[in-house]
Parts: sequence; structure tokens; C-alpha cells
Amino acid sequence: MTLLNDRTEEILQQDGHLVHSFSDLHSLGQEGARTVISSAEGAYVYNEQGDKFLDGMAGLWCVNVGHGRNEIADAVAEQLKTLDYFSTFYNLTHPAAASLAQRLTDLTPANLNNVYFGNSGSVANDTAIRVLHYYQNRLGNHRKKKILSRIGAYHGSTHLAIAMTTPVYRAGWESADELVHFLSSPCAYHHPDNMSESEFCDFLLDEMVRDIEKVGAENIAGFIAEPIMGAGGVLVPPAGYHERTAKVCKDYDIKLISDEVVTAFGRLGAMFASESIFNIQPDIICTAKGLSSGYQPISATFFSDEIMDVVAAEGNRFLHGMTYSGHPACCAAAHANLDILENEKICQHVQSAGPHFEKQLRALSDLDLVGDVRGSHFMMGLEFVKNKSTREYYDEDVAVGMRVSQHAQQRGLIVRPLGAMIVLSPPLILTIEQIDDIALKLRESIVATMDDLAKL
Ligand SMILES: Cc1ncc(COP(=O)(O)O)c(C=O)c1O
Repeated sequence: MTLLNDRTEEILQQDGHLVHSFSDLHSLGQEGARTVISSAEGAYVYNEQGDKFLDGMAGLWCVNVGHGRNEIADAVAEQLKTLDYFSTFYNLTHPAAASLAQRLTDLTPANLNNVYFGNSGSVANDTAIRVLHYYQNRLGNHRKKKILSRIGAYHGSTHLAIAMTTPVYRAGWESADELVHFLSSPCAYHHPDNMSESEFCDFLLDEMVRDIEKVGAENIAGFIAEPIMGAGGVLVPPAGYHERTAKVCKDYDIKLISDEVVTAFGRLGAMFASESIFNIQPDIICTAKGLSSGYQPISATFFSDEIMDVVAAEGNRFLHGMTYSGHPACCAAAHANLDILENEKICQHVQSAGPHFEKQLRALSDLDLVGDVRGSHFMMGLEFVKNKSTREYYDEDVAVGMRVSQHAQQRGLIVRPLGAMIVLSPPLILTIEQIDDIALKLRESIVATMDDLAKL
């Protein structure tokens, strides 16, 4: 990497006023931000000095169609020139929101024919819970409000979404704790009790049923689950888990909310993973990120007809709304993004290139530091351990994930450090050559980290 230039120094000075999400503000105040990304094209981003990095995170799990797509920028500009803003409050609407609602509900699993637009995954999930609570109220189920979530989950950082998120993400912060009941993480690697995959699945289902009986189904409105947990560490459930939890939800009249903020719009090779990949029919699906590939902030929460029939019954009022819900420019970005996903057959590309990505990353498990490689298609994580057979971790302050990610950055690859892990969720347009390049750079970075650790 080249030395910082004057312009970068100036940006870092200005950045002293910026409150960074999920950061250690004290250290940032002393050391300043490290990475200034100024431009992007395809699968690559560039810093102010012109150094090139392969964007192994697609921004923040979101730039599905890759960076620098003029079609999306042009569609947004065109829309702003035609209709800059209008609301969808009350009886108002505009063509961009109406046509996007039609287009998306044509793509969702059957009976999810109703969509509410927001501006983030957090808001998509908050919307799901607010509407579900109102649904229960209208049915007279005034106590049926609790949400089942899972350890390891990440559902956002607004007040309801963070309450459903695994506790480490809100340590010391206020949270609506009474709203949520947590079940175990479905990741087998963190339950090293020598269980087979199917025994582990049985264990999780037994716990779910036991906890529902304990809390009382009459107190539980919904179960929220990411098909594959992302920010919690790419936690993949055992085979059959989603189908079986969906059945338990049906049996106990608990609504199933699928948080597809990361998994929708191609990341696993399908527009929606719930039905196409995991064979479940949720009552609510929450999406954001890949809906516009991050070009504009837009989220969509889809509701079943059964829920909406109750919510929209005569005499009821939908008392939920945000100024920028269905913003014309965001809807235009989503339309242009969907055009690319469809015209360039991005899901088919992920179906064929995704297994190669998986294979290349799984090949890294021959390295002593690599305890686990998990994930699916373009959503992968590597977990690092001190001892493979005991799964013992390095002390937290060794920051092994950060070390690997810094070595990767020096080699022109951005990956996300996450404790003892790194996670990868690259743009979905990666070529086979780019995938092989990622695997090579990661191997070198992990070996360099092992050299560092040997010197500690
Ligand atoms: C599964 C999941 N749900 C919800 C969110 C929150 O989305 P946002 O950051 O857009 O509020 C995220 C963000 O990473 C996510 O991964």
C-alpha cells in the first residue's frame, strides 16, 4: 500500500467528527480511522491513494451486483429529475413504489403479497414486529407478544431489532429484553459435544419445544430467524432445521419471520432463500441490502395475506410510517438492480460459481490455524483456533481475525474481521479467476498470521 497523501490526511482529520457504527470510539479518537475508500468499480474498491482492493465484503454484505453500475446511477438520476420525492402516506402513491411493490410480490413465495418499504434492515425487522403485534391485538391475543430469537442472531440496531440480536452486540446498552426469548445458536461448531448433525438438530428442536411450553405459546407472537446467520459468524444450521422449526411454529400458532436481509436477492443463488433453498413458507420475510445492492437505502418487509387480512380489516388503522418509506429514488434503484440481477442471470451465476468459492475456501482448512470453514455460496466464514482438536481459541486480545484481515488488506483483499473469524460476502459477479485470487491471498494472509502468532 502507498503512503498516506495530503488529501487522505485531510479526510482523516474531518473524520474525527464522524461517529462510527459499532466501533471503539475511544481508540478511534486516538488512532483515527484506518481505511479511506474513495471509489469503486466492479468487484474492486480504491483508496484515496489509488490502491486497489478486492471487496470481499460487498461493502457490508450488500453490493450484490458489484460497484459502479451506471444503469442504477442513471435510473436514480432519471427518477429524481421526474419525481424527486413524494410520500406513500394516507391515500397517496407514485409509480416507482407501486410498480416495485407489484414486481417484488410477484417474486416472493406465494401468499406474501403485501410489502412495506423502509430504509434499512433494522427498520424492516422493527416493522415486522410492530405489525405482528398489532395483528395479535386485533385477534384479541393481547399477551401473545414475545419473540423467539437465537443466540448469534443479528437483526439490526433499532430498539426492537437490537433486542432480538444476540446480547454481545448490546452489552451495557438498554434493550427491550422482556420482549425476547433466546434459543441456542444452531451452529454445530460451537456445540462440540460429539453430536451427529441429526442429533444436534434434534437437540435444537427439543429445546425449542421445551422453551415454547415453558414460556407458553399464548405469550409468543413470532420466531425470527436468518436462514444462515451472518454477522453472528456465518452460522449454518443443521440439515432440516428450518423445515422442522417452521413446523413447530405452525403447530404452536407462532408466526415465522425470515430475516433475509443478507440472504435475499442472490447471495445463496436464489431471489429468496426461505422457500427456494430451505423449503419453508414464512409468514413474514424481511429484506434490505441486496434489494438495491446498497445503491440507495431501501428495505422491504413482506406480509402474508392472512396477516394483512386481519391488519387491514374494517375499522383498523395502519399506524406505522416513515417519511422516506417507498422513496422514489430508492425504488428506482431497486428496479434497476433487479433488472441487472435478472438480465445477467446473477442467481444462476451464484449457483455455478458459489460451489467453487466454497471449495476454494474449504481447502484452507489444511492450515493449522483454520478450525472451521462454513457457509454457503457467496456467504462464507473462517474461524481460527489455537488447537484444532480441542477447538481452543486464542485470547481475545490476540485479535486473530483482525490480524488475518490486516494481512489480507496488505495483499489487496478486504475481508471482515469478527473476533476469531473473518467473514466473506463478496459481490455476486465474481469470476472464477477472482475467486482463485481471493483463496490465494487468504492462504498467504493466514500463513503470515501464523508466523506472527509463533513470535508472540
Ligand atoms: C440479517 C440482518 N438483519 C438485519 C440487519 C440490519 O440491517 P441494517 O444495517 O440495514 O439496519 C442486518 C445487517 O447487517 C443483517 O445482517
